[in-house]
Amino acid sequence: MESILIDHAHCEKKAAGTALNLIFAYVENVELCRAMTEIVNEELEHFHMVLDLLARRNIRFRRLKPSTYGRELNDLVRKQEPQRAVDRLLVAGLIEARSCERFHVLAQHVQDAELAEFYRSLFESEARHHTAYTRLAKHFAPDVEVVRRLEELAAAEAAIITRGEELPRMHS
Ligand SMILES: [Fe+2]
Ligand SMILES: [Fe+2]
Repeated sequence: MESILIDHAHCEKKAAGTALNLIFAYVENVELCRAMTEIVNEELEHFHMVLDLLARRNIRFRRLKPSTYGRELNDLVRKQEPQRAVDRLLVAGLIEARSCERFHVLAQHVQDAELAEFYRSLFESEARHHTAYTRLAKHFAPDVEVVRRLEELAAAEAAIITRGEELPRMHS
């Protein structure tokens, strides 16, 4: 459980970083900037909450070897704009969908009441983030193209998950 919590803290920090990077990359898109600002704030708040949880449990926050999941997903992002924007947003959305699923499962199965409640409280905002990313991808390509690419990326993501991770992780 300890490494799951530490990994979770890193995921929230990474999620905030991803949203902030998207502001830097697509600063002309006002709607994107506004949505990303909200996500950055919420992810930082989540990060802070996990840090508090770690502190209450006397678990030291430490570096972890980056998961292969994130790296392999980012390798799927196309280099050319505007396809790159579509992929960055869809990949971010897939990661959100996966955390959402994870929180749902953890909330149901974890014995610890405090953690179960915490995971339940995060579920809704990660679901919202997933929707925001998918919606914003449609600013950069026609709807049908976005849906097609999402299916493609989701299939590639499933293959990455099947190959697995060597350590217990949030997204494994
Ligand atoms: Fe989060
Ligand atoms: Fe999120």
